[in-house]
Amino acid sequence: ADLADQVAEICARHAMAEGPMLPILHDIQADFGYIPEAAIPVVAKALNQTAAEVHGVMSFYHDFRSAPAGRRTVKICRAEACQAMGANDLADTAKARLGVDWHGTTKGGEVTLEPVYCLGLCACAPAAMVDGQVIGRVDDARLEAVFAEAGL
Ligand code: FES
Repeated sequence: ADLADQVAEICARHAMAEGPMLPILHDIQADFGYIPEAAIPVVAKALNQTAAEVHGVMSFYHDFRSAPAGRRTVKICRAEACQAMGANDLADTAKARLGVDWHGTTKGGEVTLEPVYCLGLCACAPAAMVDGQVIGRVDDARLEAVFAEAGL
């Protein structure tokens, strides 16, 4: 099926639910890995809303991405305990090294950088998550190793 059919099918699956927008967007992202721009008018039509409203929901919930993620996803904790241990500097170094801002993906698709708010690893701050695996006491060298491993 083409993209519009596939998205319409997802919308139909949730049509009877209350507040179907979030489950629909989650399913689209699960199927495609992101929310393709072409899916937005289809969702808007199915829910009787405007494309701008769908965009608004997408940007409010940072889980949704509008482009495919990189091969590795690196999440840096931005919550208090980690900030106190230098997470902001760590994030700045990572952004500069990758040439992206939060939610950005490097040009070659190697790494996507995401913020996260407490990984439950405050005792080992600053903490990060690499492809779903938490690591503590992260420093520049540790991050650099992750980036190098990702082919950067
Ligand atoms: Fe970063 Fe808890 S504040 S892991």
